[in-house]
Amino acid sequence: MLQKVHDGKTRTVLVAGGAGFVGSHLCDALLLRGDKVICVDSFLTGSRANVRPLENHPKFRLVEQDVCHLLNIEEQVHQVYNLACAASPPSYQADPVHTMMTCVAGTGNLLALAERHNASFLQASTSEVYGDPEEHPQREDYRGNVSCTGPRACYDEGKRAAEALCFDMLRAGRTDARVVRIFNTYGPRMQPNDGRIISNLLVQALSGDPLTIYGSGEQTRSFCFVTDLVAGLMALMDVDPNPGAPVNIGNPGEFTINELAAMILTMVPGRSEIVYRPLPKDDPQRRRPDIARAKELLDWEPKVPLSQGLQETADYFASVLFEPGLRARPSREKPRPGLTGALQIGA
Ligand SMILES: NC(=O)c1ccc[n+]([C@@H]2O[C@H](COP(=O)([O-])OP(=O)(O)OC[C@H]3O[C@@H](n4cnc5c(N)ncnc54)[C@H](O)[C@@H]3O)[C@@H](O)[C@H]2O)c1
Repeated sequence: MLQKVHDGKTRTVLVAGGAGFVGSHLCDALLLRGDKVICVDSFLTGSRANVRPLENHPKFRLVEQDVCHLLNIEEQVHQVYNLACAASPPSYQADPVHTMMTCVAGTGNLLALAERHNASFLQASTSEVYGDPEEHPQREDYRGNVSCTGPRACYDEGKRAAEALCFDMLRAGRTDARVVRIFNTYGPRMQPNDGRIISNLLVQALSGDPLTIYGSGEQTRSFCFVTDLVAGLMALMDVDPNPGAPVNIGNPGEFTINELAAMILTMVPGRSEIVYRPLPKDDPQRRRPDIARAKELLDWEPKVPLSQGLQETADYFASVLFEPGLRARPSREKPRPGLTGALQIGA
């Protein structure tokens, strides 16, 4: 079994995707713990505003780079978190080839970097590896029901391939790789226009627009507040020994989209009504994590109730949408060229 190199002194932690929604909260938490942080991000879906408060922090460094290209970091790195990947369907479908390459070539490059530094590695995988699940709730040993040819495949299958790469590197004794399967997470610093259900509904309610629900609204999701997720990511990275298997991190509270919309309408009173639109292709009907493994191995469970987290998120959106000078960045609409030349794993 690979040994972690951390000796109790200051760790240097590389966070790929550190300017994103989850990544920026992770950078905050690591700096608060006293670690040095190297944030690697291409700003594809992340935002400079998310890391601006950290820019003058003496232990924070920003490297603007696409992880599909080889990374050269001279400084000794002790831990590598890979969160680099567009995460909402509109953003990962804008350039599906680049999404797949980020998952495969990007993860390969970061695993190779972790190997060179003898650093522990944590891969942000997703509940999407379960696809439209036929088992409920989803345990880590469920193999999923995923379309490998549909419009979500660049992300779902890309993340599955990235998991395979992590476990191959672990079995080969090359990298101390760990895999977390993240279920829907929300909170401040989500992009208001990222197309995810909580941001969609909150922004519509705050703007006084009708709330759009796709399908009947009886499909379910579980929603984890971002600080709970970050605590789970750090617990999995630090646990010894490496569990050697994926770990679900999410909030097992299960809500229909209609229930979520009703909560939001109570929280943001106004004239909003609900309109129903057809369900997109391959949209899963039910999602709820089984978190028994996280409880047992990491002593982790979520603490923030949905009502509290929604209020904090609504307050955040109100500040970025309606305070002058703080308008959120529009999402990228034009696809980028594919990066098929970047498949140089470990080169
Ligand atoms: N938020 C969720 O509900 C959720 C659920 C499951 C999995 N995840 C995973 O967690 C991670 C973070 O998600 P998020 O919600 O913070 O998304 P996000 O889009 O806010 O963050 C992703 C970050 O990665 C960066 N990035 C994307 N492609 C890159 C590339 N090729 N090179 C360098 N940087 C790149 C983006 O600029 C962004 O800063 C992602 O890997 C995502 O798949 C998130």
